[in-house]
Amino acid sequence: TGSTGTSTGTRGSTAVVNIGSLVTNDAGHGEGPLGLLRDAAVVFDGGRVAWTGPAHQAPAADEQFDAAGRAALPGFVDSHSHLVFGGDRTEEFNARMSGRPYSAGGIRTTVAATRAAGDAELHANVARYVAEALRQGTTTIETKSGYGLTVDDEERALRIAGAHTDEVTFLGAHIVPPEHAGDPAEYVRLVTGPMLDACAPHARWIDVFCEEGAFDGDQARAILTAGAARGLVPRVHANQLSYGPGVRLAVELGAASADHCTRLTDADVDALAQGGTVATLLPGAEFSTRAEWPDARRLLDAGATVALSTDCNPGSSFTSSMPFCVALAVRDMGMTPDEAVWAATAGGAAALRRTDVGHLTPGARADLTLLDAPSAVHLAYRPGVPLVSAVWRQGARVV
Ligand code: NIG
Ligand code: FE
Repeated sequence: TGSTGTSTGTRGSTAVVNIGSLVTNDAGHGEGPLGLLRDAAVVFDGGRVAWTGPAHQAPAADEQFDAAGRAALPGFVDSHSHLVFGGDRTEEFNARMSGRPYSAGGIRTTVAATRAAGDAELHANVARYVAEALRQGTTTIETKSGYGLTVDDEERALRIAGAHTDEVTFLGAHIVPPEHAGDPAEYVRLVTGPMLDACAPHARWIDVFCEEGAFDGDQARAILTAGAARGLVPRVHANQLSYGPGVRLAVELGAASADHCTRLTDADVDALAQGGTVATLLPGAEFSTRAEWPDARRLLDAGATVALSTDCNPGSSFTSSMPFCVALAVRDMGMTPDEAVWAATAGGAAALRRTDVGHLTPGARADLTLLDAPSAVHLAYRPGVPLVSAVWRQGARVV
């Protein structure tokens, strides 16, 4: 409790009262690891959380919203998506569901479509998927380049991404594009040289798809190290399709996150448990590629920090729904509902090294998702049901 909010003068205070079950992720303040408060209220002021506590003690506010006993949680933090793309891959999905395997090679289809798309079309696509995510309760979303793969197309993708979100990742090393297929080393020189020069000012993060058919451990190390030297913080697409060096490289380089983590050795699990790198699991990808599920239970039992994200992209996971990912993680990856809710909020914030989102401690950004359900357990219990009934972002009602 206690008031830390300061009024901006442009936005009055709001009290959301009569919340039946409130996930604060402020473990010291409420029940259990989610810091659950019952019959609670949240007061927003100046775009920040000013107060949380029992509804009957809520301080007066300019506006009041009656949650009518429903559940609320911090807005979802989706720390991994690929929203800057042209076209789609319906045919590839269709063929896969008739038995064809997924391979990284499909990325080339989207690279061609993205290069051919105009800026307005790409802006409209990103805006559409960010809005779609918001309607499903996502108030922070990271997104990547990676379907341009020329200096100009990667820079363009990052500029477009940056118009829609602050969490922008340079993924020039998604695959080696067809025009460099004969000389991958030359493409790595391009990515670590002129492409990085053009892209570094527009991104916060650098990512590499470290995988057979994409970039090996040495190439990934060279690219991430070059990015780090330019102030970009590493995150890695690691151990998705095969066992490989990605996870251990991520931990060694102090990456914020190792993403996918589907195929892990005991040494990989130990590295994640002991290092400061978050394991970000992307169940939409396993769902849409009919692949083995990542073993969240094994990571949690070892002591790793786990995040859940959508990986929204037209090839391997064309969902923008964090509730869907929570449901899959609970049903198929051994997570409890509480663990999955934490991973989709506070876990995503950890993967983005953000302390202002993913929780509702006074001073946090006023991002709140209200569910048409009595508790957040219903995200997994009622899969596929559009439970998100209202969303506030920076204290403003946006859904
Ligand atoms: O995270 N793994 C690499 N990148 C994406 C897939 C992109 C695509 O298939 O277009 C992923 O799954
Ligand atoms: Fe991805």
